[in-house]
Amino acid sequence: MYRIGKEEIQAVAKVIESRELFKCNGGLQETMHCEQEMKELFGCQNAILMTSGKAALIAAMVACGIGPGDEVIVPAYTYIASAMAVLATGAIPVIAEIDESCTIDVSDAEKRISRHTKAIMPVNIQGFPCDMDGLMNLAEKYNLKIIEDACQADGGSHKGRRLGTIGHAGALSFNQFKIITSGEGGALLTNDRTLFERAFIYHDSSAIAYFGGQLDEISEAQFCGTEYRTNEITAAILREQLKKLDGILADLRKNKKNIMDALQNDFCFAPSHDAAGDCGTTVAFMFDSEEAARKFATADGIHGTLPIDTGKHVYTHWTPVLEKRGALHPLMDPFKMQANKDLNHNYSPDMCPKTLDILAKTVYIGINPDWSKAEVEKVIAACKAAGKALA
Ligand SMILES: Cc1ncc(COP(=O)(O)O)c(C=O)c1O
Repeated sequence: MYRIGKEEIQAVAKVIESRELFKCNGGLQETMHCEQEMKELFGCQNAILMTSGKAALIAAMVACGIGPGDEVIVPAYTYIASAMAVLATGAIPVIAEIDESCTIDVSDAEKRISRHTKAIMPVNIQGFPCDMDGLMNLAEKYNLKIIEDACQADGGSHKGRRLGTIGHAGALSFNQFKIITSGEGGALLTNDRTLFERAFIYHDSSAIAYFGGQLDEISEAQFCGTEYRTNEITAAILREQLKKLDGILADLRKNKKNIMDALQNDFCFAPSHDAAGDCGTTVAFMFDSEEAARKFATADGIHGTLPIDTGKHVYTHWTPVLEKRGALHPLMDPFKMQANKDLNHNYSPDMCPKTLDILAKTVYIGINPDWSKAEVEKVIAACKAAGKALA
């Protein structure tokens, strides 16, 4: 969470005063306005607000017809929710290496494509853009769907197009830790009308069936879905957050650039698939050894983090996935389903050595968009001093 305050408080107060917190009852229509504003800001034809980013990922895959018998390739470095979202559809996550940018390694992903593969889920981790050109080429070559997990990259872009709008569908998250927030929340973005209609039906099947008018422009057949419907308070907060998004990104990027420019002769940085579109939340330093990375991360004034230490973001910590407990009920567990018996779920802790190596030699420093010039200078000075001590 970066910037939240009186604008959000006033927006929430208005909704409460209207006494209409439910999105379908024609109150202030915050949800409808928020989705419209999101479409305009992101340059995308369809947006659906949902309860979370994971909900949006699941709805995107359901809309693509993904389920038992299908493999979805996910990077070995992403929050566990990405892999769990695949399992929630009945499909199997296939784990691929990352490259030095900390995003999915496209050539390794290609090696893992099988006749069962239906989709790839690139993850713009820490706001770092994935190699979207490489991924869209794979999608075309092998007839796959690209489901973008842009949950950590709200508003970022790749070659001028917002992350989450480049693949067949994308997911944003607005939980407490994201670039913009409503505490919890998410959105599905897609330019594909059929995917939109199916995701719309899936995310709110009971209210769609009950509240008249919602199906008027939907031509896909209604099917039983789930309940990921959002509410007017969340939407009102997000409308204010959307107004702040590009300002937050501009200041994050400015601070990141100033730090990297000042340190360019002293350090190596992780490469980027599009530095201009990077969200700017994190400077990623690259070292020759884990020892050097740890020394730097813990030096005075650095407050660095090695991504290898970020728990459930690293596949080796995806315990229920690695131990193949895909659901409580055995007949609902993708790992036990007959349709999945020939699929690739040969997981082991050492299956992605390149990823583990990269994550152990990288150090993140988190950026604050509201740092003053003096605070940025302090970070630079601390890095320079820590760099000298390493030399
Ligand atoms: C990369 C990634 N994917 C998916 C999610 C799931 O988002 P949410 O918590 O909104 O369900 C997160 C959340 O932290 C995430 O970081």
